[in-house]
Amino acid sequence: MKEIVVSGIRSTGRLHLGNYFGAMRNFLKMQHEYNCFFFIADYHSLTTHPAPNDFHENVRQVLVEYLACGLDPDAATIYVQSDIPEIPELYLLLNMNAYVGELERCTSFKDKIRKQPDNINAGLLTYPSLMAADILIHRAVKVPVGKDQEQHLEMARTFGNRFNRIYRTELFPEPYAFNFGTELVKIPGLDGSGKMGKSEGEGNAIFLSDPEDVIRKKVMRAVTDSGPTELNQKKPEAIKNLFLLMNAVSSHDTYSFFEDKYAQMQIRYGDMKKQLAEDMAAFCKPFRERIEELSKDSEYVGKVARVGAEKARVSAQETVRNARKAIGIRSFY
Ligand code: TYM
Repeated sequence: MKEIVVSGIRSTGRLHLGNYFGAMRNFLKMQHEYNCFFFIADYHSLTTHPAPNDFHENVRQVLVEYLACGLDPDAATIYVQSDIPEIPELYLLLNMNAYVGELERCTSFKDKIRKQPDNINAGLLTYPSLMAADILIHRAVKVPVGKDQEQHLEMARTFGNRFNRIYRTELFPEPYAFNFGTELVKIPGLDGSGKMGKSEGEGNAIFLSDPEDVIRKKVMRAVTDSGPTELNQKKPEAIKNLFLLMNAVSSHDTYSFFEDKYAQMQIRYGDMKKQLAEDMAAFCKPFRERIEELSKDSEYVGKVARVGAEKARVSAQETVRNARKAIGIRSFY
């Protein structure tokens, strides 16, 4: 039996290079080797209260981008989270044994409190239980994600184990964050600090669907410093990040060339950024073209979502049936 893999990306907008290297690159490699469930986390995007039209449009966009990246609906089960009613049901069941204290201590919750102090809703607090439900609903063991999701995986294990213990069952196996390169990935943003992300401000992220001129503009504006002042100097954060981005999209030779220049104090950031912009544009181009093409094919995209939901529900229904049984939920009629 193939091992079960689950992962998703929130439908808060277009996919960026962080999503690609942290998650999608692994999805593509795993889809033929494992029993994969890849979904669009649209319930998770509701914590920020999107307008109804934007909400729907964003889900469609991410679905199109999944396919444009090369996810194969004949190999993996691709679906929209809100098409699977068993997920919110399991979320409810898990919430009964998720303690407010542990949820409040979650780093992503603390982050959100800082970022959206006017909208600290229960959905944000229980975000890890919904994510655990996404994973446990198919009894997954491997979850391809970026570094920022590590703590959520730990919570999914906690909730699954707790359920097993309380109800004396072995329903849920332990899911682990997974990356082919062993270490989980964190792609930095262009603003010199932190990670590439949708909520980190325009210009911080390069999206797969960005046109070449937009990529060039964003990269040329990336934060740098006045250059190294000693031979073989340790790189400050912003420069390290620029090199990390180059390492992701450029050839090994290009990367080593600029490494050497830096070590020799001969680096010209303008040249490096120009090269990085060209390499990013070349990397994104085939994705952008495919996204444009697939955007026009609503019928195909709709079919993928329908077939995916049907397949995902078979597995989800079985889990919820067993979870209800373990808890003692039995019908009177
Ligand atoms: P989200 O939508 O923020 O990101 C989707 C995936 O992309 C990865 N990622 C990154 N990896 C490396 N560097 C970056 N700068 C970067 N930015 C994003 C994330 O680690 C993630 O793998 N809660 C999840 C979505 C989710 C999910 C799940 C994932 C909901 N349920 C169940 C796995 C399993 C999220 O917000 O990811």
